Amino acid sequence: MRSYSLIAPAKINLYLQIVGDRPDGFHELIMVLQSIELADRVTVRSRSVDDIWVQCDHPAVPVDQTNLAYRAAELMMREFPEVYARFGGIEIDLHKRIPMGAGLAGGSSNAAAVLVGIDLMWNLGLTQSELQDLGAKLGSDVPFCISGGTALATGRGENLAALTSLDHLYVVLAKYRDLPVSTPWAYQTYRRNFGETYAKTSQEIEAKKARSRAILSAIAHHDYTQIGQQLHNDLEKVVLPEFAKVQQLRDQFARFNPIGTMMSGSGSTVFALSESRSQAEAIKNAMRANIPDPELELWVTKLSQRGVHLATH
Ligand code: C5P
Repeated sequence: MRSYSLIAPAKINLYLQIVGDRPDGFHELIMVLQSIELADRVTVRSRSVDDIWVQCDHPAVPVDQTNLAYRAAELMMREFPEVYARFGGIEIDLHKRIPMGAGLAGGSSNAAAVLVGIDLMWNLGLTQSELQDLGAKLGSDVPFCISGGTALATGRGENLAALTSLDHLYVVLAKYRDLPVSTPWAYQTYRRNFGETYAKTSQEIEAKKARSRAILSAIAHHDYTQIGQQLHNDLEKVVLPEFAKVQQLRDQFARFNPIGTMMSGSGSTVFALSESRSQAEAIKNAMRANIPDPELELWVTKLSQRGVHLATH
């Protein structure tokens, strides 16, 4: 039986700016996406019967069509019916470490790993950009999860340009268990509250784009102080007022002098950047001491240069 195990890293948003509406109903975005070492492990295997079978070590993860990893396998079966007929069905094992509803692209990264794994298992020989085009059909963050690293993402989030790698930095993640934020809710609420500020003319679009130059320049120079100051996420404007606990994490992190702190994606994870593992651990310990709530989960991890890749053991 053929089987491939892949590491599916999470991402954080160093920058998320909403430019305006798109004709497809999504938002036009400018984002800086960054892979981190916190990752799930995804194993794909051929199955003798002609169907998809998903299992997961986390009971809250759905194992049906609502799981993006399932839909990634369905997509490959539809795109390559003859190969599918030759190899049979697909079994997917998800070993979850990335929290859900967290703004860390856990589901998208799992789907990315399924695409990469099936490409290997079926000897398709697809290029990274072909895999990313398939990934874009599943979700806006899937193409980034395939290539990973540090990237500027525009359009829906699927147009990617690689940036200078920032993998020397450490990151502390904080999230309350059982506090997911719905991504569609966050974007819809943003449109309702700030729709009148959306760029419509090319001049307005250029003016919005200009705002992102400072962080891109800071990244190009590896200027960590500036990167910290230029962290930005428009979705904080709707999530923080609605979720007091996310606001609390944001306020607490700021007290411990990280390089910078920001909510990731649509939340509910808040992160803090640090130049050393020891400082990151100190920030994590200070957070734990200040918020003695067993529902608070904290991680120290590192920025990473890699997207989905084969597990070595
Ligand atoms: O593409 P994905 O399935 O991750 O998007 C989840 C939701 O986030 C979409 O249904 C949409 O409401 C919102 N979204 C958006 N504009 C984007 C990306 C996501 O409005 N560029």
